[in-house]
Amino acid sequence: MAPRKLAAGNWKMNGTLAALAEIDRLLADHPAPGCEVLICPPATLIHPMAARSQGRIAVGGQDCHAKTSGAHTGDIAAAQLRDAGSSHVILGHSERRTDHAETDEQVRAKAAAAHEAGLVAVICVGETEVQRDAGQTLDVISAQLAGSVPDGATAANTVIAYEPVWAIGTGRTPTSDQIAEVHALMRERLSARLGDGADFALLYGGSVKPGNAAEIFAIPHVNGALVGGASLKAEDFGPIIAAL
Ligand code: G3P
Repeated sequence: MAPRKLAAGNWKMNGTLAALAEIDRLLADHPAPGCEVLICPPATLIHPMAARSQGRIAVGGQDCHAKTSGAHTGDIAAAQLRDAGSSHVILGHSERRTDHAETDEQVRAKAAAAHEAGLVAVICVGETEVQRDAGQTLDVISAQLAGSVPDGATAANTVIAYEPVWAIGTGRTPTSDQIAEVHALMRERLSARLGDGADFALLYGGSVKPGNAAEIFAIPHVNGALVGGASLKAEDFGPIIAAL
């Protein structure tokens, strides 16, 4: 099995019900995309987006709790995401690792909970600019992969997204060689540890735009993108989907 091709949008803390009009535009402009399309809106929009898109795009959460229920005010369990219409959940995004001090161990537990609930975990890894400048990128990615990906991960239930922290929302992207180096490392590490590591979809994320998507998608072991700002408008996300 070849890795699936996935264009994923992360709406972060953006959008109200009115933003669902973008889904109508996206589906009208791209009725038969040549890749899987996933949008992870704020939790308030998961159910209405899933209802609106009628299965023509996948819908996902942006985080879940490692436990299945209980006294965890403000949190969402994986099964609740699934119940609302999600098929995926983003885990370990650098904004959560920074804003909520999430550790690899916590991300790993959340991913296991997502799998248990039948969700595909989109696990994010990425180095800071300080770490890249110090020549630590490959060590950081290796450690995050080892720590954040649970043993039960398979190509069917897990996607890995490489998102250099310094490229997120900055308009800066790594060179193609830099992306290729990290994606080759991830492929090698996953293949060494997991039986179907060669089949995992590996996404790149960080300032992906219509103008750079085709170049990024041509890089070996890049099987798609996790897109932030440019996923909010159909006029931007559409061409990225078409480039994949
Ligand atoms: O998860 C996607 C993200 O962090 C990248 O954001 O706005 O640089 O595409 P952006």
